[in-house]
Amino acid sequence: MKKVLIIGGGSGIGFEIAKKLQSNNYDVTCVGRKERNNFEFNYIKCDVSKDNINSLYEVNIYDVLIFCAGIISRDEESFNYNEEEINNLVDTNLKGCIRCNQLFIDSCLKNNISGKIINISSISNKGSKYFPIYAATKAGILAYTKSIASRYESIQSNVISPGVIKTDMSYQETPNFDEYIPNIIENTPAKRLGNTTDIANTVEFLLSDKASFITGQEIVVDGGYTLLKE
Ligand SMILES: NC(=O)c1ccc[n+]([C@@H]2O[C@H](COP(=O)([O-])OP(=O)(O)OC[C@H]3O[C@@H](n4cnc5c(N)ncnc54)[C@H](OP(=O)(O)O)[C@@H]3O)[C@@H](O)[C@H]2O)c1
Repeated sequence: MKKVLIIGGGSGIGFEIAKKLQSNNYDVTCVGRKERNNFEFNYIKCDVSKDNINSLYEVNIYDVLIFCAGIISRDEESFNYNEEEINNLVDTNLKGCIRCNQLFIDSCLKNNISGKIINISSISNKGSKYFPIYAATKAGILAYTKSIASRYESIQSNVISPGVIKTDMSYQETPNFDEYIPNIIENTPAKRLGNTTDIANTVEFLLSDKASFITGQEIVVDGGYTLLKE
């Protein structure tokens, strides 16, 4: 049975990925900051922005890493963020991703495993009017993932960039999020909002043999929302 570590698997997109991969016979371990008792999957409480993450890789030897943890800050909207907020976003979204990826790669090389990595970025990774630091961290994830793919022949690493997906983060990002939904749908060629299953299905595909020749790529899953946006 293949083992997958999902950083940020405790809720939203990561949790949907956990369910999908369990149904594909993966042994699933999720990581998050919160205490989660009686959780559906193996769960390790760990804040990847500051805790010792070596312990994540001492319990198991994983075949797959999904880095899905992420935070966003409402204060960003004013472009008036302080040093602490910048550090928080960078330490979680980008440094957290790099640290988790590095240890996973070390483990794969040491144990002779052809590992697979999927890092979750965002359609904001080209820049964002409202969330500049978040966008910068997500751009960093994309560049870093491509670097891994080009450097390590035995590691298949790709990025998924979701569009607007209805999760806790969407409500945190946009107050009264529900009011914006009609407008988002209007501007989405697929004429619907994205859901967590859209991302989990893409993960399933990227981990399948059908995607074995795809590495270092960004798969945008946004129903066409970012098409032809000038
Ligand atoms: N929703 C969208 O529209 C959208 C669009 C594009 C990209 N994304 C990306 O998709 C990913 C998942 O987001 P989501 O929408 O599913 O939101 P979510 O439900 O808030 O999920 C974020 C997850 O990250 C975990 N996390 C945050 N900081 C962490 C840390 N320092 N250490 C360990 N775990 C941490 C959280 O765990 P705890 O709950 O335990 O804190 C939570 O389970 C994020 O990277 C986000 O940027 C989302």
